[in-house]
Amino acid sequence: MTKLLTIKDEPEAFKGKSVFVRVDYNVVKNGEIQDTYRIDRTLPTIRFLLEAGAKQVVLASHSGRPKDRDESLSLRPIVQHLSEKLSEEVGFVEDVPNGTAPEDRRVILLENLRFWKGEKDDDPKFAEALSRFGDEYVNDAFGVSHRKNASVSAIAQFYTKRYAGLLLAEEVEKLSEVRDNPDKPFHVLFGGAKVRDKIPVLEALVQKADRIFIGGAMAYTFLKAKGVDVGNSIVDNDRLEWAKEFLNHYKSKVYLPKDHVCATAEVEKCGDGYEVRDTQDERIEDGWIGYDIGWNTIKTWKDALKEANMVFWNGPVGYYECEDFECGTKLLAILLSGFKDDGKKVVVGGGDTVAALSRFSIPYEDFHFVSTGGGAALDFLAGKHLPGLEIITKKEA
Ligand code: 3PG
Repeated sequence: MTKLLTIKDEPEAFKGKSVFVRVDYNVVKNGEIQDTYRIDRTLPTIRFLLEAGAKQVVLASHSGRPKDRDESLSLRPIVQHLSEKLSEEVGFVEDVPNGTAPEDRRVILLENLRFWKGEKDDDPKFAEALSRFGDEYVNDAFGVSHRKNASVSAIAQFYTKRYAGLLLAEEVEKLSEVRDNPDKPFHVLFGGAKVRDKIPVLEALVQKADRIFIGGAMAYTFLKAKGVDVGNSIVDNDRLEWAKEFLNHYKSKVYLPKDHVCATAEVEKCGDGYEVRDTQDERIEDGWIGYDIGWNTIKTWKDALKEANMVFWNGPVGYYECEDFECGTKLLAILLSGFKDDGKKVVVGGGDTVAALSRFSIPYEDFHFVSTGGGAALDFLAGKHLPGLEIITKKEA
């Protein structure tokens, strides 16, 4: 089996060197840090490199999907957070293609790489400009490793060896467990809105899973494919045929909601402009929109999930941002957070799922692993090749 070369394998390689570390700090919105989890999870890599004698650690990330410079997505607010966490002043480089790293700082953060077109275009010239910041290259940005961007792809040609950071190595290890060798019984809980994004991962995981629970807005496409009335709920009509076939093939493994919490209108503001009602069964009447799984579903799913030894969870099962529709996601999250004490493994992935845990104040430590990857985790589990992993130097085990 091939393994990734990690910074732990060759700590001496960093002594006296400047090290370019690609991180995924896609956490700034409207000029503020939304959640510090992704930043804090990279601290062990930064500390490791400094302890290994690195002269300078240069952190580089994107945030959002700007077409151009957009101050509301500047990474500058992260400087203070990092300085506090590392107990030392962190420097900042605003003009990435032309600027230089201040020599009097051990840790430097570069401005949002997506302010320059070259990053998204995987442009070798932009990659070369980035490579000026580091004698060595480390990828600790699992979350963006599925993107063919200059800092995780074209940059490879400027280094003889490319190392995996500690977070990326742990992501690969924990997600490989789920993908290749899950403890049995293995259950998968999916939610969220887009069936389209989940097709490859559903098709891959269903081969290993004993049960698959499908909630969230995705569920209405499956219910409709089964011939159930779903009222005015969101349905991906282009995926109905696929959903029908999936259900035909894997009927015995798939759990769909048996009842729902519905609203009379599309929810624009929580608690305002709609009525709420529970359905009696899986059918939703015309004029109503499903927004959460109902009590009967929660009870059935809780009992069934308790039989698992490993669970992979991606996507909230309801519109958890509003109290009216948070119960499904909240109660399942509380249940799953207790599994660790019983020696069961729950792996959580996806930005919305992690945001839901944070909203319900459920500590991430209560789970076997909380991935920092959304799309990257799904692609990895679906067995796709990730450019950011492909470039990391392999070592034979
Ligand atoms: C993520 O949050 O999933 C990663 O940072 C990738 O972001 P992107 O989908 O904008 O490329």
